[in-house]
Amino acid sequence: MGKKIIVFGSINMDLVVSINDFPKPGETILGKHHQWFPGGKGANQAVAVFRTGGNVRMIGKIGDDHLGKIVINHLRGERMDLQGVKCIREEVTGLAIINVNSLGENNIIVSAGANQVWPETEAELNDLLKGYDMVVLQQEIPLRVVKSVLKIAKAQGVHTILNAAPASEDILPSLKYVDLLIVNEVEISVLSGMALADIPSITEAVIKLSGACSNIIVTLGKDGCLVFADNEFNGVPSYKVKVIDTTAAGDVFVGAVATRLSEGERILDAARWATAASALTVTKLGAQASIPHRNDIGKFILESGKG
Ligand code: RIB
Repeated sequence: MGKKIIVFGSINMDLVVSINDFPKPGETILGKHHQWFPGGKGANQAVAVFRTGGNVRMIGKIGDDHLGKIVINHLRGERMDLQGVKCIREEVTGLAIINVNSLGENNIIVSAGANQVWPETEAELNDLLKGYDMVVLQQEIPLRVVKSVLKIAKAQGVHTILNAAPASEDILPSLKYVDLLIVNEVEISVLSGMALADIPSITEAVIKLSGACSNIIVTLGKDGCLVFADNEFNGVPSYKVKVIDTTAAGDVFVGAVATRLSEGERILDAARWATAASALTVTKLGAQASIPHRNDIGKFILESGKG
């Protein structure tokens, strides 16, 4: 069993509507069908750590409603440590409205609900982190909490992984507490303040941010990812798969990287393995419903001839 990982983050219920094309402003379109799935970047990443073999505790909030009961029951089915998940009275559970087009691309609107309610003091956050080796964070909970956890974790010597999604420039002063930053193209564009068109410009953005954070991975969808670690750039190609839904591919990448790093793997090798995990994720509809287990990833890598 690897080191102990703690994930602070959002827990949502996702309403996924399958459509042909995204509607234009002012347009009403008919969807093909819709389905409910447990989601939330925090919960997805915690489940990804768990299913890929990591030792994980989830810290998050659900609302006092029927959606909260559904998501927590689903998470309980994973048998991971959920003692840090609290139900917030008189609040609704976070909701994500996700449109998935015929290419498997999505757009997502999140209504945070209980995910915004974090009354924990710095002393309480400090206590929550005690005994953990690694913390994983995203930005669907209050930025104040993300910033505090990063700072406290650094002071305690806990390894920090930040998935800066959704992106906000306000996190920039805290990047100095981040051991590994994982972002997609949109997020690194926001953080670097640069318009990005290609690998050379993304590389430049990484160099700009590397003054604050020395390990950065930029996920590039079907183009794999760009890894900057140990002062070296490496591209990791993706796998060719039939894309059904890209939702949670980034979350699975983050969770799988965390698991492998907790086992002592190098960042580049962890990113290669996580790329396979993400590729499997996009072949199924839904967030947590599509997260692969460790055995599936090993099998997929062998079958693809990259093992
Ligand atoms: O990253 C995918 C997730 O983003 C979805 O599950 C949705 O809940 C939003 O948080």
